[in-house]
Amino acid sequence: MQKCGDRVVFPFKQRTAYNDPLLFIPARSATFTSSELITVDNDVTVIDHPLIQHKLTLMRRKDASTQDFRSLMREVAHLLAYEITRDLPITHARIETPLAGMDAPMLAGKKLCFVAILRAGIGLLEGMIELLPSARVGHVGLYRDPDTLVAVEYYYKVPNDIADRLVIVVDPMLATGNSAIAAVQRLKERGADRVRFICLLAAPEGITAFRAAHPDVPLFTAAIDERLNDHGYILPGLGDAGDRLYGTK
Ligand code: URA
Repeated sequence: MQKCGDRVVFPFKQRTAYNDPLLFIPARSATFTSSELITVDNDVTVIDHPLIQHKLTLMRRKDASTQDFRSLMREVAHLLAYEITRDLPITHARIETPLAGMDAPMLAGKKLCFVAILRAGIGLLEGMIELLPSARVGHVGLYRDPDTLVAVEYYYKVPNDIADRLVIVVDPMLATGNSAIAAVQRLKERGADRVRFICLLAAPEGITAFRAAHPDVPLFTAAIDERLNDHGYILPGLGDAGDRLYGTK
């Protein structure tokens, strides 16, 4: 493990398979409580900020109310957006403060598009666009066939110039990976070639499947849980993110 500023990075030769239970179960938090970012693979990053971990724990609790769950999702989205946008290019603009002129840093472009996977992705999206209010937004509607767990598309609407934008696909849960894989595939078909995927919780199975399908798409998550259950839900997880956001169960 190496420390690079506030990042903790596994050197390539030591990087550990993300389906290694020793890395991802509670022992990990004892080792890494002070880290912010853990790169477990060249393109799998766990955003391990203590505030995010604390809020995620509150969200996981089965007695969290719909209202609490929703507002925690928004707060975590702010914190995640802060981390995944750290490398956005900066330019300088001439401005006048009340005391002097200066060349002040600003975001270089507005070529950003969030794509929410319906419906739970909306919860994460809303917090993110509060930080980046000029970002464009696309929506991909996918549901999981309960028997096959295959992602079935029922809605697709993204900006026409998606190919010119950095695309950040958001979905709180990366479970089997089928929805994320299908959504990114559709975006690539429309010409998107700079895509990132961000979720709150990922299952090792989903990470493996997603990385195999889209090795060029960096993946960010706040936590990697233990495994999927027989119905494709993440364990220990937080339940059905859509139902918990919207109080539908
Ligand atoms: N979708 C959810 O909302 N929760 C899971 O655990 C898996 C997929």
